[in-house]
Amino acid sequence: MRMTVIGTGYLGATHAACMAELGHEVLGVDVDEAKIASLKDGKVPFFEPGLPEVLERNIANGRLGFSTEYADAASFAQVHFLGVGTPQQKGSFAADLTYVRQVIENLVPLLEGQHIIFGKSTVPVGTAAQLQELADSLAKPGTEVEIAWNPEFLREGYAVKDTITPDRIVVGVRASSEAAEVAREVYATAIAAETPFLVTDLATAELVKVSANAFLATKISFINAVAEICEQTGADVVSLADAIGYDDRIGRKFLGAGLGFGGGCLPKDIRAFMARAGELGADQALTFLREVDSINMRRRDRVVQLSKEICGGSLLGKRVTVLGAAFKPNSDDVRDSPALSVAGSLSLQGAAVSVYDPQAMDNARRVFPTLGYAANTQEALADAHLVVLATEWQEFRDLDPVAAAGIVDKPVIIDGRNVLDVDKWQGAGWEVHALGRNL
Ligand code: UGA
Repeated sequence: MRMTVIGTGYLGATHAACMAELGHEVLGVDVDEAKIASLKDGKVPFFEPGLPEVLERNIANGRLGFSTEYADAASFAQVHFLGVGTPQQKGSFAADLTYVRQVIENLVPLLEGQHIIFGKSTVPVGTAAQLQELADSLAKPGTEVEIAWNPEFLREGYAVKDTITPDRIVVGVRASSEAAEVAREVYATAIAAETPFLVTDLATAELVKVSANAFLATKISFINAVAEICEQTGADVVSLADAIGYDDRIGRKFLGAGLGFGGGCLPKDIRAFMARAGELGADQALTFLREVDSINMRRRDRVVQLSKEICGGSLLGKRVTVLGAAFKPNSDDVRDSPALSVAGSLSLQGAAVSVYDPQAMDNARRVFPTLGYAANTQEALADAHLVVLATEWQEFRDLDPVAAAGIVDKPVIIDGRNVLDVDKWQGAGWEVHALGRNL
């Protein structure tokens, strides 16, 4: 099938490359010339394992191309995917739909014949119906443009796998629409492999996406709230999570207690969900998400507070190593990163902070230029009074505690992600602190 993907950020670039990998002919379109130049060159402008290979292969075989022109999108295909960002609005919890609207405003007047636009961006419920009205008002006479919604569930770090073999496909369509049949063709490979394919109305599809992210955020904050109780009682949140996780109604996934969630999705999505509930007059339904957000933020404060206590009540002049800057491992994304937030707070309270991350250094420097950045883990650890493990990269999990003890000034570590082998670290002479555990 021929298709375009409009917006070539994280979501769009991955979708475009993976659709070509599945055998489709794809044109990726973005107004950002630098991004398109990089992609045309076979270079992914962010870190995502496996994606560069898929991109290069499909540019080479001619199935994948890129353009900055909407006119090219209009003439290339009748099926379009919309994957632009919906960030949090400045000064409000609501999602900023400017980019989504711009795509419709720029693309629809150029279309001729019958077209379907599948929205993939995470949007407040009701957006697709509004975009349909906008499209109807802009379409040339005789041209029909249908808006359908096909939310994306990919995780950063696993984006290729999640796109090629998703755990479900959801397509929201209006009544008497052919979009579901078109989507079946697009996702024929996954459907043949018995991936659940759910056809819903537009509002349900929009809500599926935000509900999934709200549930994941709630699960993380649930275990982090229990971690707070563990800290007061001497109980151990890791053993507790193991024990409740064996109940398959609960499940162990996303019960990783620690510094909590960040990134470009979970934080902004729960806030936009609350904002939309308020607009719909149903604000009480989601007030618990405010608590989910607060619990999450408190974990960052807790690590800063604990650091202060460990350093004898003041961080002034203390050398603190922060291992990790990305919001999670296998990503160079620092948007709303708990690691960078902690590093920033420690620095603002007078600590000399040395940050190292295997992939996110450039992005971290851009957001927080005043922090100290080390060239590698060893340099970051040198002479530290305290080490904070903030992002659980494999490289940090594999650190040799004996060798590390020889580099730091004081062998004291806060395991902000509950991933270290505590016995091994204590055996090497380290004082280990963790969230939700009394060690
Ligand atoms: C999330 C969802 O998992 C995807 O399904 C969704 O498609 C995506 O948002 C999106 O809306 O685009 P992502 O932001 O890549 O994906 O990251 P997650 O793997 O969900 O992790 C989010 C945060 O939660 C990270 O900061 C991670 O460290 C934290 N986390 C995760 C925990 O603190 N504890 C856990 O047990 C799991």
